[in-house]
Amino acid sequence: LQRCADRQGASFHTPGHQRGQGISQQHRDLFGSKVFRADLPELPELDNLFAPAGVILEAQQLAAAAFGAEQTWFLANGSTCGIEAAIMATCGPGEKLILPRNAHSSAISGLILSGAVPVYVAPVYSRDWQMALGVEPAAIASALCAHPGAKAVLVVSPTYYGSCSDLQAIATLTHAHGIPLIVDEAHGPHFAFHPNLPQSALAAGADIAIQSAHKVLCAFTQAALLHIQGNCVERDRLAQSLQLTQSTSPSYLLLGSLDAARHQMATEGFSRMAQTLALADRACRELSDLPNLRILQASSLGFASDRTRLTVDVSGLGLTGFAADEMLHAKGITAELPALRHLMFIISLGNRAADIDRLISGFKQLCERYSSPNTLPGSAEFLTSDFLTDSAQLSPREAFFAPKLAMPIDQAVGCICAETICPYPPGIPTLLPGEVILAGAIAHLQTTLCAGGMLTSSDPHLKTILVVTPEFVSPC
Ligand SMILES: Cc1ncc(COP(=O)(O)O)c(C=O)c1O
Repeated sequence: LQRCADRQGASFHTPGHQRGQGISQQHRDLFGSKVFRADLPELPELDNLFAPAGVILEAQQLAAAAFGAEQTWFLANGSTCGIEAAIMATCGPGEKLILPRNAHSSAISGLILSGAVPVYVAPVYSRDWQMALGVEPAAIASALCAHPGAKAVLVVSPTYYGSCSDLQAIATLTHAHGIPLIVDEAHGPHFAFHPNLPQSALAAGADIAIQSAHKVLCAFTQAALLHIQGNCVERDRLAQSLQLTQSTSPSYLLLGSLDAARHQMATEGFSRMAQTLALADRACRELSDLPNLRILQASSLGFASDRTRLTVDVSGLGLTGFAADEMLHAKGITAELPALRHLMFIISLGNRAADIDRLISGFKQLCERYSSPNTLPGSAEFLTSDFLTDSAQLSPREAFFAPKLAMPIDQAVGCICAETICPYPPGIPTLLPGEVILAGAIAHLQTTLCAGGMLTSSDPHLKTILVVTPEFVSPC
């Protein structure tokens, strides 16, 4: 890529900027000109992502070795396309996929695309922290027992908040049933590089692990990895599924950045992660000393956790996470994820000691100014098992393709949802296509909106919800 970028000549191919010659001054001011020289199409020297035989194959092999896989695919459409493809590669129409109800919306897209039927497992939910922590192997075991024909199990580990399920035990269970374990490890591509981080999904025995290299490593946004090991998954079908879910023109900026991120981790991963852990531990220690703040320790709740995720409960200051986020952002301190009662910060290898100083001083100022306890109602506990069980009436695909109407919110309870409604981030759907709409789910969404959160749905103000037309459902 470097050689192709440096070469002089006349080009007559995509992209239309022809190595930056055509860009406007404004465009150049923002990005510089150099990056355009590397924004190239599949030139003969640059291989092809969908039939790799040259530099891409070599880069993917190096990534497999660095991350501990047998084979690795570079992804240019985020973990999203990898999760969708992993589901399509393992489950066909009408076949069952066991997954936790707090899966990312990309897993729901995978169900719609494949036509697979979800068997939802309730994750362990912390009422105290109002978050799902992970799935217990026992919950997977009973789902496997109740659904012996299931074709795969998908687990999200780590969660957005860094809490990890016991993947080793879960892999043993799925393999005893002869089916693969797919791990959405979007937030854990760094795990393989330091022993003080949780065990990686591949090391625990997962068949497929999908990682967003852009989330915590230094790849460009959208650049991700799909790793595979063992013989449980048909690799040709996986490769074909990846073609269905990705652009036919994958960006070489993304692919090149994946190779660079891999090289950095392969050569300096241990020392970079040691520094990152030290920064995260200092932030945790110093924030724990401030009055009225609580710092999440998922390990004290029985789950392995990634210490580079820092979750700070601000409800003791009388603030919502959204309000605290606004104030901190105005001071130049920007969190990854604000929620009703807490804020989550990602501490990555890109952070420096000065960032941690600024974070601590921002919180010190908040603590000096605010101290009354938060009287905000808790988010409706939409992930508890009573909320979860058997509210699905149609498969996500059936509901997606069924005739729909926009139902006013006050008449929506009891209808079958025809869309994915998701507070974002973290992108964990509150309502899924095919589920009966419960009052608790609407209350949760409304509370999130009132507190300043954002929804992805057909009506972001939630005046209406897309539902399956009642006439379509009742004859069944
Ligand atoms: C748990 C989880 N899985 C998958 C994804 C999708 O990853 P990407 O943004 O790389 O497509 C996300 C994104 O936030 C996520 O949080």
